[in-house]
Amino acid sequence: MGKIKNFLLFLSANCLGACAAIPIISSSTDEYALLAFKAKITQDPYNILRKNWTKGTPFCNWIGITCSQRHQRVKALNLSSKRLKGTIAKEVGNLSFLISLDISNNNFQGHIPDELGHLRRLRGLYMQLNALSGQISESFGFLNGIEELFLYNNSLTGPIPPAIFNISSFQVIDLMFNFLGGSLPTDICNNLPNLESFNVSHNRLGGQIPASFSRCSEIKFLALSYNEFTGGIPAEIGNITGLQYLYVAKNNLTGEVPFRYFNFSSLVELQIAGNGFSGSVPHDLCFKHPELEYLNLELNQLHCQIPSSISHCSAMDTLDLGQNKFTGNVPDNIGNMSMLRNLVIGRNNVTGFIPPSIGNMSRLLILMMAWNNFSGRIPPELGKLPILEGVFIHTNQFTGEIPPELGQSSSIGRLYMQSNKIIGEIPPSIFNISTLRKLSLSETQLSSFRKS
Ligand SMILES: *[C@@H]1O[C@H](CO)[C@@H](O)[C@H](O)[C@H]1NC(C)=O
Ligand SMILES: *[C@@H]1O[C@H](CO)[C@@H](O)[C@H](O)[C@H]1NC(C)=O
Ligand SMILES: *[C@@H]1O[C@H](CO)[C@@H](O)[C@H](O)[C@H]1NC(C)=O
Ligand SMILES: *[C@@H]1O[C@H](CO)[C@@H](O)[C@H](O)[C@H]1NC(C)=O
Ligand SMILES: *[C@@H]1O[C@H](CO)[C@@H](O)[C@H](O)[C@H]1NC(C)=O
Ligand SMILES: *[C@@H]1O[C@H](CO)[C@@H](O)[C@H](O)[C@H]1NC(C)=O
Ligand SMILES: *[C@@H]1O[C@H](CO)[C@@H](O)[C@H](O)[C@H]1NC(C)=O
Ligand SMILES: *[C@@H]1O[C@H](CO)[C@@H](O)[C@H](O)[C@H]1NC(C)=O
Ligand SMILES: *[C@@H]1O[C@H](CO)[C@@H](O)[C@H](O)[C@H]1NC(C)=O
Ligand SMILES: *[C@@H]1O[C@H](CO)[C@@H](O)[C@H](O)[C@H]1NC(C)=O
Ligand SMILES: *[C@@H]1O[C@H](CO)[C@@H](O)[C@H](O)[C@H]1NC(C)=O
Ligand SMILES: *[C@@H]1O[C@H](CO)[C@@H](O)[C@H](O)[C@H]1NC(C)=O
Repeated sequence: MGKIKNFLLFLSANCLGACAAIPIISSSTDEYALLAFKAKITQDPYNILRKNWTKGTPFCNWIGITCSQRHQRVKALNLSSKRLKGTIAKEVGNLSFLISLDISNNNFQGHIPDELGHLRRLRGLYMQLNALSGQISESFGFLNGIEELFLYNNSLTGPIPPAIFNISSFQVIDLMFNFLGGSLPTDICNNLPNLESFNVSHNRLGGQIPASFSRCSEIKFLALSYNEFTGGIPAEIGNITGLQYLYVAKNNLTGEVPFRYFNFSSLVELQIAGNGFSGSVPHDLCFKHPELEYLNLELNQLHCQIPSSISHCSAMDTLDLGQNKFTGNVPDNIGNMSMLRNLVIGRNNVTGFIPPSIGNMSRLLILMMAWNNFSGRIPPELGKLPILEGVFIHTNQFTGEIPPELGQSSSIGRLYMQSNKIIGEIPPSIFNISTLRKLSLSETQLSSFRKS
């Protein structure tokens, strides 16, 4: 049986290459489809289609076309970034050998034709950065070998057709910056074993975050920010052991963040800012997630101390805890985060001293600690930090004099120290900071401000 089957396969494959009639008919279909595509282009400032895509010259030589060697059929169409304007001709759906279609970064308008769903060999569809409108066609559910779908930065509306989540070959789905609505199917990941990246940020999606995301076991990037999701982060998401980037900022999410169930030691970025999360952040956060580089918890209702393990996140670039209800002190060894560029703790109720170890944060750019209950002296170490630009430590309970060492800084541009209990004279050295653009010292007990 096996032998006969192989023999037949061999015959038919051979025939496709050798039997003249089939390729000729099919190639002319391709040419017809490409000319139909060209006919819908209204602006072509580089004259690519007008001068190069000309009838009578072999279309396999046209700019942007790659043909299969054997069948002389179009297998890739790439007209990315050619400043083309127009609509997409439905005849493109006849390019049945197409594996990759890239018309990204142009000015294509109108709807995406349903006929694209006929492209059964398609692996990559790149139509991002255009002005496409209307819905994503249900027919995309038939693209059952597709691996990458890029539609970001268009004006697509309506729901995401659930059928696309049945395509097990998917690796990347990027629909960011559209106006997609509706909700995600509860069984979204039942048939997406290869999905690595799913980005629907900046849309109008609502409903709950499906717990079945945990079945997308290969997912590394999950971006759901700037939508209208409600409910909580399902604890099941914690089962995605390879998850590296989790973005759910600016939604209507509430409840506790299920940190306890987060089994992904690989976590690199967590953004949950601008929701209604309550509860606490566990003290062992950075023992569990030592690779964290970006942690943005801003604008929630988190009520706890700064995790004592924070110094173990030695790759941290941005730590933003602003506008929550953090209390307690800053851990002494916070300076161990030597890669940190942005430290934002503003508008909380944090108390105690700023630890001197901050002098070890040689990459610190922004220090935002305003509107807390910090006390003690302003750390002189700040003057040593080579690229520190913004120092916002106003509206606290700092006492003592302004350390003259701040004057050693060659980088501070904004120095906000108002509304503190600082006393004495303004050290003249402060005016040696050549980069200084804004200095705010009002509402202090500095002698220059103690007007009689
Ligand atoms: C179209 O461009 C290709 C690649 O630059 C070139 O080989 C071909 O001759 C051009 N055809 C015409 C008709 O200009
Ligand atoms: C299309 O061409 C551009 C520029 O040559 C290239 O950067 C891009 O990767 C190509 N697209 C695909 C899908 O290969
Ligand atoms: C190609 O596509 C168009 C429109 O989708 C259709 O009318 C036509 O019959 C198709 N087939 C060929 C061989 O061009
Ligand atoms: C995508 O759209 C957003 C919002 O309109 C815009 O801010 C962003 O610059 C766009 N991206 C690109 C690469 O043009
Ligand atoms: C997904 O595929 C399954 C099995 O083939 C089918 O029962 C189900 O209806 C499909 N779902 C969608 C949304 O197409
Ligand atoms: C969507 O999110 C993924 C994962 O975070 C990211 O790699 C990708 O660049 C994002 N897409 C856009 C258009 O920014
Ligand atoms: C996924 O997580 C949930 C809740 O944390 C747990 O009850 C369940 O057993 C986990 N499932 C798998 C397959 O690990
Ligand atoms: C996740 O971690 C919890 C608690 O440590 C454990 O009980 C559970 O089995 C883990 N789940 C997976 C999928 O590793
Ligand atoms: C989400 O929250 C915003 C502001 O809190 C509110 O205006 C909006 O109605 C909420 N949307 C939903 C879907 O709950
Ligand atoms: C400082 O970071 C290193 C990793 O760079 C880690 O091994 C060490 O335990 C950390 N020390 C403290 C006190 O957190
Ligand atoms: C801040 O914490 C102090 C004690 O540490 C407490 O007395 C005060 O009421 C808190 N302020 C706010 C606004 O929660
Ligand atoms: C700064 O780092 C050095 C070397 O890692 C360490 O010996 C020193 O104790 C740290 N200073 C502070 C104030 O933490």
